[in-house]
Amino acid sequence: MHRTDYCVHLSPKDIGRKVTLCGWVKRRRDLGKLTFIDLRDSSGVVQLLLYGEDPKLEAGHTLNREDVIAISGVVAARSQANVNKEMATGEIEIQVEELKILNRSITPPFLVEGDGSDTTEETRLRYRYVDLRRERLQRNLALRHRVFKVIRDYFSDLGFLEIETPFLTKSTPEGARDFLVPSRISPGQFYALPQSPQLFKQLFMIGGIDRYFQLVKCFRDEDLRADRQPEFTQLDLEVSFPHGKEQILELLEGMLVKVFGEVLSIDLSAPFSRLSYAEALARYGSDKPDLRFGMEIHDLSQLVGKSEFRIFAEAIESGGKVAGINASGCAGYSRSAIDRLQEVSRYAGVKDLFWIKVSEDITSPLAKFLPRSMITAIREELSAQPGDLILILAGASIEKALGELRVEVAQREHLINEGWNFLWVTDFPLFGLDEEGNLTSEHHPFTSPQEKDLARLESEPLTVLSNAYDLILNGTELGSGSIRIHSRKLQERIFRLLNISQEEAQLLFGFFLHALEYGAPPHGGFALGLDRLVMMMANEESLRDVIAFPKTTTGFCPLTAAPMPVKAAQLEELGLKLREQ
Ligand code: AMO
Repeated sequence: MHRTDYCVHLSPKDIGRKVTLCGWVKRRRDLGKLTFIDLRDSSGVVQLLLYGEDPKLEAGHTLNREDVIAISGVVAARSQANVNKEMATGEIEIQVEELKILNRSITPPFLVEGDGSDTTEETRLRYRYVDLRRERLQRNLALRHRVFKVIRDYFSDLGFLEIETPFLTKSTPEGARDFLVPSRISPGQFYALPQSPQLFKQLFMIGGIDRYFQLVKCFRDEDLRADRQPEFTQLDLEVSFPHGKEQILELLEGMLVKVFGEVLSIDLSAPFSRLSYAEALARYGSDKPDLRFGMEIHDLSQLVGKSEFRIFAEAIESGGKVAGINASGCAGYSRSAIDRLQEVSRYAGVKDLFWIKVSEDITSPLAKFLPRSMITAIREELSAQPGDLILILAGASIEKALGELRVEVAQREHLINEGWNFLWVTDFPLFGLDEEGNLTSEHHPFTSPQEKDLARLESEPLTVLSNAYDLILNGTELGSGSIRIHSRKLQERIFRLLNISQEEAQLLFGFFLHALEYGAPPHGGFALGLDRLVMMMANEESLRDVIAFPKTTTGFCPLTAAPMPVKAAQLEELGLKLREQ
């Protein structure tokens, strides 16, 4: 019995046709002489009807959930009373003439249909092969496939070559820890799994490949969250002789327009908006702002500069600022609702949250400290109307906390519009500071500084901007890239500033520094997190719902129980010895 059709492809047009279908038993309803079976395959579900009198179909009474069957029968119209409008194939059923049980299933750990609330995620992942039969996962993985296909076609058509890069390699600094793989042949030596193909793609440019892309697994040992997996997939690309960053931004805009158009029938409008890093931080308190809602940050330092209120005066004198947002319509917030906002700003590092409730009159703890005219000026600056709540912070680096308050209020008040808000953030600083006050790369050490800032590289490194750009979708970072350094001298200068000694640079990146001396062309590129893109397109909250076999937030695979101990003999072969815990 060979399959002739998929369940959901059948419709009233097929009435009278003889078909053979294969799939899993979703459920069986035995009504004595009649047995109804819902048959599921990868396309969906169709109803089967078995007349119990027929001895050939007797086995139908024994079918259980998830048994695998093949049937042959005739497509028939359902009686009017039995039409099921909820079902894609609700107008038809198959009158079964032949039934073959291909395999039995033991009782499945959870229902394949439904929303999964009858089980835990850990159980779903342990039995992922059953879970994958779920319509939602089938849909998500099909979407993932379509996105990948459009991307591959797009870049191939533009003359990009997809070329693989090694997995057993050396550390690439992307800011996470490496996963290490011990070498048996060279005991005591380790490969690192790539955090990205960054150096290899740059070597492709030196190697004259011209335009490269790859849909590639990357591995990062970092704290996991709903939008982070230890292994994830990037669209990685690099081009030689780019017409500045513009060319790369345009390439990606073109790709996303095509992906959204072909996969979701959504017309994105390109070019996408752009903000410099400084502007994004000042106006939205984030380098990945969600622009689906307003509530911009306003600098109030000028307005309150002359106040004698100690906290404001100290903030401004010490080089910080006073700034606020208008939580529109939130004047009715209770004490405890405001306390929760206070928690948000405290968590983001700013202790005191000041508020002004605007009604016909004004209620605010600040009324005791600021003259009335100043409060009116603040109200005007923030265009606050009766019913609004003004939230104010003071100090150094308060933008991030204001940004989090902005998002918190927007989520609470359901201010976030539906839609796809793509945004480029550009002109990042080249360096940041780590906890010990050392310079670190804001992106990675191969990002080029802006030419106009080169002279200040050593004297004022924190003021130097880079040629990096991030792509943001609805407040989530989808990807990042840059125009790279292509001169050894400059690359070495950057390593020096990052406190990487000459010996260390030689040891870690000697091969790369040397390659830069053999006529490295100007080049630049980008990497986009594909799991994140697909997650958002599928309207899911977790990467785990768009990855076939994901790991839990502790990096554990419930299906295979990896990671796990290995045999003593394996360790011995690798020249490894475990320390007593
Ligand atoms: P970056 O480190 O910003 O850049 O990574 C690019 C994108 O990859 C996704 N991503 C992740 N997705 C899931 N789980 C993770 N653990 C994870 N980490 C990163 C994000 C991110 O924006 N080599 C550079 C790119 C370049 O300069 O060309 C790089 O890898 O969506």
